[in-house]
Amino acid sequence: TNRTFTMIKPDAVENGHIGAILEKITAAGFKIVAMKYTQLSMRDAQEFYAIHKERPFFGELVDFMTRGPIVSAILEKENAVEDFRALIGATNPAEAAEGTIRKMFATDIAENAIHGSDSDENAAVEGAFHFSGREIY
Ligand code: GTP
Ligand code: MG
Repeated sequence: TNRTFTMIKPDAVENGHIGAILEKITAAGFKIVAMKYTQLSMRDAQEFYAIHKERPFFGELVDFMTRGPIVSAILEKENAVEDFRALIGATNPAEAAEGTIRKMFATDIAENAIHGSDSDENAAVEGAFHFSGREIY
């Protein structure tokens, strides 16, 4: 068993998809071990996405991720990182497989509904960025 980190992004929250997305996550066998409803500051988003700071879309990404509330969570399952990336689908929803969360709920490559960590190492770093030890079950 291991863990991944996720955020339901501002577009999906605005569009009323929190419940449907959590339903898909739990139905796929992920156990929620931490969760909160929160809004990122500019500084939070710049730090969280620091790996993308040289990309042309960095400013847009930070504006998007801070424009409204998100749901952040730590999820537990065997093979969590890889299985969760499969559940959410490709970054660009136009290329995402049928039945994936991004195919169902994302708008475009920028406003793509949900985040999933891309490695066990990043899952640990990202989880610790959002949650203190006593917020994790
Ligand atoms: P995350 O799970 O959010 O990390 O997405 P990802 O791993 O599938 O994609 P990546 O890490 O490459 O990009 C991070 C985020 O930047 C994406 O999820 C999008 O929200 C945003 N993004 C990626 N490409 C573009 C782009 O071309 N334009 C804009 N505006 N945003 C982009
Ligand atoms: Mg990524």
